[in-house]
Amino acid sequence: MKFGHFDDEHREYVIETPKTPLPWINYLGSKEFFSLISNTCGGYTFYKDAKLLRLTRYRYNDVPMDINGKYFYIKDGDTVWNPGWKPTQTDLDEYECRHGIGYSKFKGVKNGVRADVLTFVPVNDNCEVSRLVVTNDSSAEKSISIFSYVEWCLWNADDDSRNFQRNFSTGEVEVKGSAIYHKTEYRERRNHYAVYSVNAPITAFDTARDSFLGLYHYAGDPEAVLNGKLTNSMASGWSPIAAHQLDVTLKPGESKSYVFVLGYIENPVEDKWESHNVINKKPAEALLAKYDTDAKVDAAFAELNDQWDKLLNIYTVDSSNDKVNRMVNIWNQYQCMVTFNMSRSASYYESGIGRGMGFRDSCQDLLGFVHLIPDRARERIIDIASTQFQDGRAYHQYQPLTKKGNSDIGSGFGDDPLWLIAGTSAYIRETGDTTILDEMVPFDNDESVAETLMEHLRRSFGYVDTHRGPHRLPLIGRADWNDCLNLNCHSTQPGESFQTFGPSEGPVAESVFIGGMFVKYGNEYADICDLKGLTDEAAKVRASVAEMNEILLDSSAGWDGEWFVRAYDSYGGKVGSKDCEEGQIYIEPQGFCVLAGVGKETGQAQKALDSVKAKLDTKYGVMILQPAYTVYHEELGEVSSYPPGYKENAGIFCHNNPWVSIAETVIGRGDRAFEVYKKTCPAYTEEISEIHRTEPYIYCQMVAGADAKFHGEGKNSWLTGTAAWTFVNISQYILGVYPTLKGLSVDPCVPADFGDFSVKRVYRGVEYDITVKQNGVQKGVKQLIVDGAQVEGTVIPYDASKKTVKVEVVMG
Ligand code: GLC
Ligand code: GLC
Repeated sequence: MKFGHFDDEHREYVIETPKTPLPWINYLGSKEFFSLISNTCGGYTFYKDAKLLRLTRYRYNDVPMDINGKYFYIKDGDTVWNPGWKPTQTDLDEYECRHGIGYSKFKGVKNGVRADVLTFVPVNDNCEVSRLVVTNDSSAEKSISIFSYVEWCLWNADDDSRNFQRNFSTGEVEVKGSAIYHKTEYRERRNHYAVYSVNAPITAFDTARDSFLGLYHYAGDPEAVLNGKLTNSMASGWSPIAAHQLDVTLKPGESKSYVFVLGYIENPVEDKWESHNVINKKPAEALLAKYDTDAKVDAAFAELNDQWDKLLNIYTVDSSNDKVNRMVNIWNQYQCMVTFNMSRSASYYESGIGRGMGFRDSCQDLLGFVHLIPDRARERIIDIASTQFQDGRAYHQYQPLTKKGNSDIGSGFGDDPLWLIAGTSAYIRETGDTTILDEMVPFDNDESVAETLMEHLRRSFGYVDTHRGPHRLPLIGRADWNDCLNLNCHSTQPGESFQTFGPSEGPVAESVFIGGMFVKYGNEYADICDLKGLTDEAAKVRASVAEMNEILLDSSAGWDGEWFVRAYDSYGGKVGSKDCEEGQIYIEPQGFCVLAGVGKETGQAQKALDSVKAKLDTKYGVMILQPAYTVYHEELGEVSSYPPGYKENAGIFCHNNPWVSIAETVIGRGDRAFEVYKKTCPAYTEEISEIHRTEPYIYCQMVAGADAKFHGEGKNSWLTGTAAWTFVNISQYILGVYPTLKGLSVDPCVPADFGDFSVKRVYRGVEYDITVKQNGVQKGVKQLIVDGAQVEGTVIPYDASKKTVKVEVVMG
């Protein structure tokens, strides 16, 4: 069952009812000012950092679900309604929400009045613009009142939700004309404030929540709105808000348009005040003036769309499969950009106060957006590497505002160092820019111990190479990619965090998965060494990689007979083996070892993937492990803490489904690769939205596995490495347009009935027009013709002097 439909021409998902199974959200903003917005206008706004500089307040896990946002109320006689249905939940005659690329549109119709809202964050300003157009579609004149409402957050969202003894006394506002200013803590050390304004004279306003809502009401039935008259309240402590009232008379057929702007302003410390305790509003007024007419809003909206046109022109596919076209050309790349902006910090499941920018997460996200914004990817790599420790290990996360690493969610994860190689390699393969390797980059943000990025990579690889266990496999440390495989911490008491409790190191617990990464990224690192002329280092690395390859295939170390072992616990016991009672097979080493090419020649690769299909597959995707853990295993940690079928305990973790799909392309099985791709692909799961529940246009982190009560139910949407990996999978492996250090390679692996297709790819300044004749073949390039001339192999020779290149690929 569907709750809406795709409008590919406008790059929108059109939600036809406000009663979606969960809030279906969108992200606004692409630089420093961001908003989350749901299909019923819920959500919140922040500047740069969802924890430290939050403008508006949101209550997670509140009931009714998703009631706090940026709302407009319309009072028409005795009826009060919202264009986005919530929070009054007044039945609408018509409702529509269109989530687009960086904007959302709402249409609500009630009793002959139509309200259209367009909301977006302009490309170059720190504000959110909402244009509300009200139209009288009835045959009689209408007098209505329009009310706006936002609730301010007292900046630090963490403190805001806890420190009430102080917070109830600090709130301060100013009002000038139609502009309401939130200036809490500005009198002391802050030099920033927020403003909410509208480009028309207002009848009245409120800035105190209690006056607007009324003491015994809530956002669903605000007393001042029901009374039809805001009270001009001036907040003093408690909960400051911003609400405007506009009284409007509309003739039949008449429309009126209002532009609301919610902005963030920073003043120089020496220029904070206009007069004693009166804030300097000049920059705010300048900002508001930029969006005070429809024409200016139209121009800013066009600029936003132009920006996305350019970005989404870098990789486009034209195939006979609409769903693939839609995901590749629009939604998958859009989600990659959102993960670039947010990492794992702010969604409807990540509260914005818990996690910052993950080291491993951000490196993987980069794989999905590096082609779109290479300059910012470069900066991101330097930021991430700057938090690395001198011995090659890493903090697990850093805070976006300070860019400093911290151990709040642990450190010592054995896989982290290798992801830095993954990200850097992707950047160089995309751009050809090797100067990044010569950049001086601090360790742990200490400039005095800066070394080149190349040296950082050497230490990344070196750390894993020199920290091996009894089977010569890499030590797992706190955990590896699977955060919940906590083999060293041995927690037995409730409340102990698996991420931080107990030792994060141990000399015995090993990870086969990291072994697979070691092969994959060791090879990529060796190629980079070659590029830099470091032949000795390259040879040394390749020797270690070859040794690891053997260890992984060895049945007394990495190989279990029918699949790869997952790990060895701190007692030296196998994890993910037929010898285990529960958790006999895990997805990660099967996917990653095979995508690294391990076991391709020996037939073990195929065996491992056949085992995945036989033991882990479901109609909704491939589960992370089987059989699920039914009891808590202290020697394994958090993985066994979840009820069977959820999260890392046998959930379908969407992130590593593409590893399996990529692995299938590595051994040439296009039918199966695509089958795996389809199962978690939003454009396909749209059809089962009532089961899947999360947004049908983007990926979620986890789908409940076969052991779960609600098998097929998605959770934790938007901020997941799934976005990057599925895009890498479909664009680089299935459609097969893969950037190598030397140039673009084309080597598709598609289902037998996929049909011919074409890809346009802008790469290192050259536009490649690639057409593929598939000939019913799953993998194999018979002919590669570049501008009419036949070329050996699959790599298109890079020629910077050309602007466009015509590429014909004949499979066979
Ligand atoms: C979450 C984390 C990611 C981790 C994964 C598996 O998605 O963000 O870092 O690899 O869970 O535990
Ligand atoms: C929990 C989750 C995992 C997530 C981690 C973040 O372990 O199960 O998915 O990555 O928390 O710290």
